[in-house]
Amino acid sequence: MQTTYVMIKPDGVQRGLVGEILGRFERKGLKLVGMKSMVPTEEIARTHYDVHKERPFFPGLIKFVTSGPVVCMAWQGKDAISVARKLIGATNGREADPGTIRGDFGMDMGYNMIHGSDAPETAEFELGLWFPEGLMEWNNTMGTWVYE
Ligand code: RTP
Ligand code: MG
Repeated sequence: MQTTYVMIKPDGVQRGLVGEILGRFERKGLKLVGMKSMVPTEEIARTHYDVHKERPFFPGLIKFVTSGPVVCMAWQGKDAISVARKLIGATNGREADPGTIRGDFGMDMGYNMIHGSDAPETAEFELGLWFPEGLMEWNNTMGTWVYE
């Protein structure tokens, strides 16, 4: 089992897409092991996007991510990282496939509504950053009908 960090960004919250986005992860069969909402501090946003700190879009990205509430989630399942990235779709909404979150609701690169960890090491780092209190351990009975 893998756990991945998924975050609805301020544009997703502002556009009233939280329920729609959350529902897609639920219906897929992933298990919710952490969820909360906050307005990120500049410090947490900079740490999260540290790999992009030299990129020209970095200042704008930090301003955007700290501009309002985000929804922080931890989703667990087999290959959860790649499964979540597939649900999310390509970075630019105009290029993302229909059926993906960005493909169905997005038209831009910066305003792409959602983040998902891209590898096991980044998932571990991001989960520790956004959920220092730890995640929930629970038995979801639905799981017995999701995996053979
Ligand atoms: P994310 O990290 O947010 O899940 O998105 P991603 O893996 O698909 O894209 P990544 O390359 O990690 O970029 C992180 C976020 O930075 C913004 N971005 N803007 N203007 C630009 O050229 C540009 N490139 C990236 C996007 O908001 C992207 O999600
Ligand atoms: Mg990324």
